[in-house]
Amino acid sequence: MKDILHQLRCFGCGARIAGAEAQPDFRCAVCGDLFEVEYPGWGQRRGNDRPNPGALKWLWRERRCSSEELDRSGVWRFRELLPILESFGNAVTLCEGSTPFYHLLRASKALGIDQIYAKHQGMNPTGSFKDTGMTAAVSVARERGFEWVACASTGNTSAAMAAYAARAGLRCLVLIPEGKIAWGKLSQAMDYGALTCQLKTDFDGCLRLLMQIVKEAPIYLLNSVNPYRLEGQKTPAFEIAEALDWNVPDHLIVPGGNLGNSSALGKGFRELHELGLVARMPRISVIQAEGANPLVRFFNQHEAMALEPVEAHTRATAIRIGNPASWRKAARAIQETGGWCLDVTEAEIAIAKTEIGAEGLGCEPASAVTLAGLKKLCAQGKVAACETVVLVLTGHTLKDADYTIDFHRGTLLSKEESVGMDTRIDSLRRNAVSVEATPAAVLAVLRGSAG
Ligand code: F0G
Repeated sequence: MKDILHQLRCFGCGARIAGAEAQPDFRCAVCGDLFEVEYPGWGQRRGNDRPNPGALKWLWRERRCSSEELDRSGVWRFRELLPILESFGNAVTLCEGSTPFYHLLRASKALGIDQIYAKHQGMNPTGSFKDTGMTAAVSVARERGFEWVACASTGNTSAAMAAYAARAGLRCLVLIPEGKIAWGKLSQAMDYGALTCQLKTDFDGCLRLLMQIVKEAPIYLLNSVNPYRLEGQKTPAFEIAEALDWNVPDHLIVPGGNLGNSSALGKGFRELHELGLVARMPRISVIQAEGANPLVRFFNQHEAMALEPVEAHTRATAIRIGNPASWRKAARAIQETGGWCLDVTEAEIAIAKTEIGAEGLGCEPASAVTLAGLKKLCAQGKVAACETVVLVLTGHTLKDADYTIDFHRGTLLSKEESVGMDTRIDSLRRNAVSVEATPAAVLAVLRGSAG
């Protein structure tokens, strides 16, 4: 399959162009919509010429025991399904992907659903799911001879881009909203040597600005409007299907920000289905924070033709996005699979995050919307006890330690935000206590917390 070339297809008008013909902002010259990578050969191949699902599954499994650099990447292990490079020798990898797939025992018990799993994308090299997309798109940037790459970010994209650019020997420009991203993420961009500009605007403002900049300078744009990002980000769908012995889950739940990830996972499962590797697609639901919920509003306005941007506010800073670029692609994934789009409050996010922590996993606030959303769907009777549900945890708990500490100290939420949930919140808080440095004092604390 490596000989099959890819092309880009406009999601809006269907116009097709060669990969290298895309404009710097990755918008269609005809209608302004975004592109998707398409592999024309897959549809043309018939009978014996089609990729053999059994052979592919065997090959991918074999590669898990290989010591080759590309095989050790959980993205490039599936390279037959992302033939986007002229040569796979140009791939820039940090051994991303192959992330853990955990059974959430406590959540399963609490919600009365036996099979709730977490696909923990926070266990990637830079601590978020963005690495799977960056390995793909930075490889393309290097292959096409760019010296500079750039992104606007709420923090994780910039951390991932900076790491992969450093690895590839490329320079990188980061635009972030001043004071609105977690320190850990900012520190990563600095550590990996990015040129970081903090702008007095929000994420949407940063992205708008960058779209203008890339038209004036030879800089390769690495936000998720770049369709090659989504090719890397579709691969967790393959890992999830493989982990379930090629039975897809009934329901996949994904956080929604700029909506690239839900689009990518939808594409991943769609391709598996079209190629005959799985029998169906999972229901895909997208969860947003209540204060940053433009897609939820879109679905609630039944007659709406276009998404109305909002001014976004949430402490889950990773998904503080009011004008998501990939909303049409994400809406298709939800609609074609019969999924739902809903929002959750700040208190629901904080509680769900602590519950994921109590499973011994932890995640960043934006990831916790998945469990908060699942709880809401269960309360609405939309999830059956026999279903297999997978939550996509997108970022590592250490990404935003301030949030966690504020929650346990009781300084995170306002009174209004936690109204009606105080008892639950108090039962979850585990603030550190100052204790005299004697065995007796520590033992007294231990006795006090027993039971
Ligand atoms: N979870 C985390 C931890 C994120 O960092 C993001 C997005 C999302 C969820 C939402 O994913 O945008 O594909 O819908 N972070 C971007 C960034 C915007 O700049 O790091 P999405």
